[in-house]
Amino acid sequence: MSTALITGASGGIGKAFAQKLAARQTNLVLVARSEEKLNQLAQELQEKYKIRVDVIVKDLTETNAANAVFDVTKSQGLTIDLLINNAGFGDYGDFAERDGERQVKMVQLNILALVDLTHQFLPLMRQRRSGSIINVSSIAAFQPIPYLSVYAASKAFVLSFSESLWAENRQYGVRILVACPGPTETDFFTEADFPQSFTGKTSKISTPEEVVNDTLNALERGDSTVVSGSFLSKIITNLSRFVPRETLVSILEKQFKA
Ligand SMILES: NC(=O)c1ccc[n+]([C@@H]2O[C@H](COP(=O)([O-])OP(=O)(O)OC[C@H]3O[C@@H](n4cnc5c(N)ncnc54)[C@H](OP(=O)(O)O)[C@@H]3O)[C@@H](O)[C@H]2O)c1
Repeated sequence: MSTALITGASGGIGKAFAQKLAARQTNLVLVARSEEKLNQLAQELQEKYKIRVDVIVKDLTETNAANAVFDVTKSQGLTIDLLINNAGFGDYGDFAERDGERQVKMVQLNILALVDLTHQFLPLMRQRRSGSIINVSSIAAFQPIPYLSVYAASKAFVLSFSESLWAENRQYGVRILVACPGPTETDFFTEADFPQSFTGKTSKISTPEEVVNDTLNALERGDSTVVSGSFLSKIITNLSRFVPRETLVSILEKQFKA
């Protein structure tokens, strides 16, 4: 039986990954800060699917968090076959006016924890010549987004980093996939402090289950990148190829202004 470690498994897309993988008889390691939610999910999945589920309660913005997570898996004798770096958050608003500490924490979670966890688990996968890593980015990765400046930049990092790793690791039998969902029905928008009026503008919103299905299918195919969501999401990811960057970012500034 294989084992998947999922960060941000207490809700949204991470929880949907946990449910889908559990149904496929994959043992799980669930990581997030909300102990009660994680324990409840673990119990539910253990009972329903008779799998092993470990819980690691961790704030991944803490220094050495990835190291601590790795050490727990090691002390439990767990081999991680699939790492899903899913935990992340956004912050809507004018960068100069938003809380600075929150911007730094976003970089710590969306980028640093993801790089660090990847670096903890990847060498072992290469030694075994098997394993997979899914990094959750966003369609926000494909262009700068005013009023989501740090978030879009953090997801651009994840996209670029993951595509490089995909190419570096194919020869070692390790799959790297970057998932780029469009708008998805989770707590993301509330957490990011999006104004109500704004979330109403989103035309097509996917379910976390749709994102997970698209992502796991792409992993099976050995793709480097998967964009899930509406046709519009797929168009958005290609706009920067055809529209001059200044024009595009000016249009987006108007679009994303509250
Ligand atoms: N929803 C969308 O429209 C959308 C679109 C594209 C990409 N994404 C990406 O999808 C991923 C999952 O987001 P979601 O939409 O499922 O949002 P969500 O429902 O808010 O889930 C975020 C998850 O991250 C965890 N998390 C947040 N801060 C953490 C920290 N400091 N340490 C450890 N875990 C932390 C949360 O758990 P705790 O609070 O328990 O720690 C939660 O499990 C994110 O990377 C997001 O950027 C979302």
